[in-house]
Amino acid sequence: MKAGAGTLLLVDDEQKIRRSLGQALRVEGHEVLEAANVGEARTVLASRDVDVLIVDNLMPGATGLDLIREIAASTPEAERPQILMMTAYATVESALEAMKLGALDYLQKPFEVEELLVVVERALAHQRLSTQQRYLLDEQEAEFNHYGLVGRSRAMDEVNRRARLVAQTRSTVLVTGETGTGKELVARAIHAQSAERGRPLIKVNCAAIPETLLESELFGHVRGAFTGATSNKKGRFALADGSTILLDEIGTMSPMLQAKLLRVLQEREFEPLGAEHSQQVDVRVIAATNRDLRQMVAVGTFQEDLFYRLNVIPIEVPPLRDRSEDIPLLAEHFVRKHEQRTGKRISGIDDGVLAELRAYPWPGNVRELENLMERAVVLSVDGLITRETLLPFVGQAAAPATGSLPSLRLASNVEWIERETIRRALDRAGGVKKDAAELMGISQRALSYYLSKYRLS
Ligand SMILES: Nc1ncnc2c1ncn2[C@@H]1O[C@H](COP(=O)(O)OP(=O)(O)OP(=O)(O)O)[C@@H](O)[C@H]1O
Ligand SMILES: [Mg+2]
Repeated sequence: MKAGAGTLLLVDDEQKIRRSLGQALRVEGHEVLEAANVGEARTVLASRDVDVLIVDNLMPGATGLDLIREIAASTPEAERPQILMMTAYATVESALEAMKLGALDYLQKPFEVEELLVVVERALAHQRLSTQQRYLLDEQEAEFNHYGLVGRSRAMDEVNRRARLVAQTRSTVLVTGETGTGKELVARAIHAQSAERGRPLIKVNCAAIPETLLESELFGHVRGAFTGATSNKKGRFALADGSTILLDEIGTMSPMLQAKLLRVLQEREFEPLGAEHSQQVDVRVIAATNRDLRQMVAVGTFQEDLFYRLNVIPIEVPPLRDRSEDIPLLAEHFVRKHEQRTGKRISGIDDGVLAELRAYPWPGNVRELENLMERAVVLSVDGLITRETLLPFVGQAAAPATGSLPSLRLASNVEWIERETIRRALDRAGGVKKDAAELMGISQRALSYYLSKYRLS
């Protein structure tokens, strides 16, 4: 087989199509296997190593999407062929579903043979890369299994160790740390490893709910308790009975509610608004805050007793700048997470970029890094994340100085950036969609999807 060629499996119920596409692909030097339906395709896949699977969606019997689903469920990612879906009735939904399941791209019939050849080239390039990376990826997989908490710095090891230990108990936990450090994720990790994991974790964001509503949100109310209370309402504590409640942004709670919460923690009971009797609850409380509660106690804005009741098992999540060894792992993790969402494939992050990421102080912590990597995936060209990828707007921004990366602060609105990127790509391509798609490394179909999503033309 000539260099760059691969083994392809073409699945289509129409013999005419198999013949014409097969021929075009063979001319390029590829070995082309054929199947007329999903059953035949299964047989081939079971006996042959296939680099790229090109599968029609609508066929008599099982569909292409069914086959993609089967492969996704049964074959580890590193052992799967690259998948391209063909369909005569492309809806964004079925194509996106296929891509969510790991398909690389899709082609809407009728398409130019040229288009197929280009997409197959790309698929083979991906396939070669993923073979080389298989070992590396497996190794990293091991780092990602702490219930979503990525990181192997000493500090994160300690956070993970505590989370695991406290998960075995029903003790109250206070999770502290700067904004975006992963406090909520820690709370979820605790619940996920606890005996109550089969029940939902009930979350209340104390900062997001106006104080007048927060009380009834937490404890519920009976009909007629106040104007507008037209029926009985269960509060979050009642919902969390037998499970875990996460009181997020606890530092914003008013003194009145602090007192009521203290009572729940002491007596394990509360009264819904307007109720005559109190109600027992068995609930594990996890509180989280980015404020310095000790300081608040000192100045009298947080009740001391409540602080001690909450601070039974403290878990402090360190800021990202104090665990920079986690940055490459986290960056890689977010790239993979957002690859799935966007259907793009990223082969790597430039080493120089990683060094800069490690040097940046990350005031928004992990959330800021995630936003940045999400944007990088969208902006990447040829599957690579380079310094240019991270500059906010192609050709405009000056190179950021190490340690400041001022452009990163713009990363908060990914959708806006996505839209802007597409607009600029179209601009640079002089309005030619094919070229714009190529610039962005996405298919023309994906571009059409984004164009309609953002109402661009
Ligand atoms: N160790 C980690 N591994 C993987 N993802 C992480 C990690 N830490 C944080 N994240 C991700 O970063 C984002 C912010 O995390 P989270 O919401 O838990 O932060 P937070 O400390 O609660 O922030 P805030 O103080 O603003 O409420 C989330 O998308 C979360 O999934
Ligand atoms: Mg939070």
